[in-house]
Amino acid sequence: MIELRGLRKVFGGTVALEQIDLSVPAGEIHGIVGRSGAGKSTLIRCLTGLERPTSGTVAIDGVDLTDQSGSGLREARRSIGMVFQHVNLLDSRTALKNVAHPLQIAGVSKAERLAKARELLEIVGLGDRVDNYPAQLSGGQKQRVGIARALAAEPKVLLCDEPTSALDSSTTDQILGLIRSLRDRLGITVLIITHEMSVIREICDSVTLLADGRVAKTGKLAEVISEPGSDLAKDLVPLPPISLDDRAPAEDTEAVDGAAGNRTNHLVEVALAGTTLPKVLTSAQSVGVGAEAILAGAVETIEGRQVGRIRFTLATAAESKELITALKAAGIYAEEAA
Ligand SMILES: Nc1ncnc2c1ncn2[C@@H]1O[C@H](COP(=O)(O)OP(=O)(O)OP(=O)(O)O)[C@@H](O)[C@H]1O
Ligand SMILES: [Mg+2]
Repeated sequence: MIELRGLRKVFGGTVALEQIDLSVPAGEIHGIVGRSGAGKSTLIRCLTGLERPTSGTVAIDGVDLTDQSGSGLREARRSIGMVFQHVNLLDSRTALKNVAHPLQIAGVSKAERLAKARELLEIVGLGDRVDNYPAQLSGGQKQRVGIARALAAEPKVLLCDEPTSALDSSTTDQILGLIRSLRDRLGITVLIITHEMSVIREICDSVTLLADGRVAKTGKLAEVISEPGSDLAKDLVPLPPISLDDRAPAEDTEAVDGAAGNRTNHLVEVALAGTTLPKVLTSAQSVGVGAEAILAGAVETIEGRQVGRIRFTLATAAESKELITALKAAGIYAEEAA
């Protein structure tokens, strides 16, 4: 449905995107993450036809946007709905008229566009708010109106740029639930740009990490999230912050760090990738390391698989080496952590 091939975008001397290949099948929810300046907005602007790629192709539903101009481009853009962080509703119009607005521009008759707008507001759960003005709606409700408006032209693709960044967590959950149900109900393909890993975890089927304008990682969420040792996997299922005071006291001389004698302990991080927590604990126990050595853990079940990480704290380097060896022998990914 969304097909990017060899996409490159250069601004003056700045390479914003380089060699981007990406396919998002119809009906999939795909997340794009990356640090500030990674090229996320440029990517979405290329997808909307607002920005013309330096080279490469951008196709939506088989139509190459880079081939189009004028009316062809306008027509192709009708198959794309956009949702932004801040919705930008027209304050002087009711929710109903805001949703009907793009249809008015497209020349749809009044009766038809108001009926369509009413139906869409019903779908986003605002059937009883059609006559409210934006000032009478909460942030989450406004975002729903924005989503209904994005759906007015019956797009095949919904592009969402930080759709929940301005919302609190329970409203975020509602909006994400809505996006998922729209996909289920309308079969729409969704691309979400976000800096919130929780958004990726909650609703994305697949994810791409952009770094310096390139695809650093892409794949199905369940695969990416369970890849051992991957930074993206660590970001997706982060360990809770660890207080230094909670670390086990170091006992061996090796662990004394520097002239000041700051004691460090030995941390071992285990990835639950294709393995399960009980298996990890059994291997640890085989070398005399019990659950009390667990300093922190983050475990989730995604598509029936346990994913996440466990961090053990051990008093000596010898113990940590022994634990890593035992885990590796059992086929479990383990590494020393800083
Ligand atoms: N119109 C422009 N002219 C010149 N350089 C640009 C332009 N737009 C983007 N860039 C550059 O391209 C790179 C990618 O920018 P982009 O806005 O796509 O990043 P981003 O991932 O969206 O970042 P953020 O998370 O901060 O929004 C940056 O180095 C930026 O300075
Ligand atoms: Mg941006």
